[in-house]
Amino acid sequence: MGQSLPPLLPPQASTVAVEVDALYALLVSITAFFTILVVGLFLYFGLKYRRKSESERPIQVHPPAWLEIAWSVVPLLICVVLFTWGVRLYFTIYTPPKDAITVHVVGKRWMWKIQHMSGAREINELHVPVNTPVRMLITSEDVIHAFSLPAFRVKRDAIPGTMTDTWFNATKVGQYHIFCAEYCGTKHSGMIGTVYVMEKDAYQKWLAGPNAGLPPAVQGEKLFTELNCISCHRNGPTQRGPALEGLYGTTVALKGGGSVTADDAYIRESIVNPTAKVVDGYEPLMPVYLSQLSEEQINALMTYVRETLGKAERPKDATPAPAAATAAEPAKDAKATKGR
Ligand code: CUA
Repeated sequence: MGQSLPPLLPPQASTVAVEVDALYALLVSITAFFTILVVGLFLYFGLKYRRKSESERPIQVHPPAWLEIAWSVVPLLICVVLFTWGVRLYFTIYTPPKDAITVHVVGKRWMWKIQHMSGAREINELHVPVNTPVRMLITSEDVIHAFSLPAFRVKRDAIPGTMTDTWFNATKVGQYHIFCAEYCGTKHSGMIGTVYVMEKDAYQKWLAGPNAGLPPAVQGEKLFTELNCISCHRNGPTQRGPALEGLYGTTVALKGGGSVTADDAYIRESIVNPTAKVVDGYEPLMPVYLSQLSEEQINALMTYVRETLGKAERPKDATPAPAAATAAEPAKDAKATKGR
């Protein structure tokens, strides 16, 4: 034998990789077992019970009740096991741990733009520390892409106009592939890159290296003032929009009923399409920023709301409608929003 065969599976380099592969192996084994069983019996019975003479007539056979019950109950049990295991694993993969570090990923034909919370930026490369949960907030500037890290068994769509997230915890220092896993045009196959899993010290050094830049939270704070977001969202007499201090992760009551969790997807939507979900007690006064901001600027504003304002204390009177918003409204509305 000259050269060895390429590996059947990518390396197992994250905390979920072994379990994903185990579930996959179980699926393949069950499928293989029943394929061999059915095809084997089909051939065996075909030979054993073949018609031996022109006059032969088959006898009608009724299977016993226990057999009928068994071939319904056994597949049901197999499906329940696969479903339960699959759902559990799904929720593990799509629920980032609270202590995860955050990285912004923006897909663009045909590259991946990545920004770290320290301000470091990179293209088609992702540097991460080993044995640390890393949460990726993923979006796209143009068409649908999919950020795929096969060695970590993680893949998530990058969808323009919204925010998706997923996470991984890399267990082995090394270099691994990044792929785009959604056909996005002529150079889709070239939309690839490398993940560098580093020792924690080396990662800290890398963050401070030549890729360093303005942290998105600081960039977001500047934009917040420049775009004059501050005039309506600051708690005080000019306030016309909901206070953002301590907002991240809370439950927000919406105008017209219902509620929503103030997560990254909601905050992003409220910046680019503010009338989609108006907070109870407020009017849809905010301008639409979708066409004025780049994805990077939106990410910066989101980071400011999440990392800086999100950790600030929530004002006591954050929910009731402010005087300025209702003063301009007819008396009927002022009454309706009072005392919430
Ligand atoms: Cu981006 Cu395929």
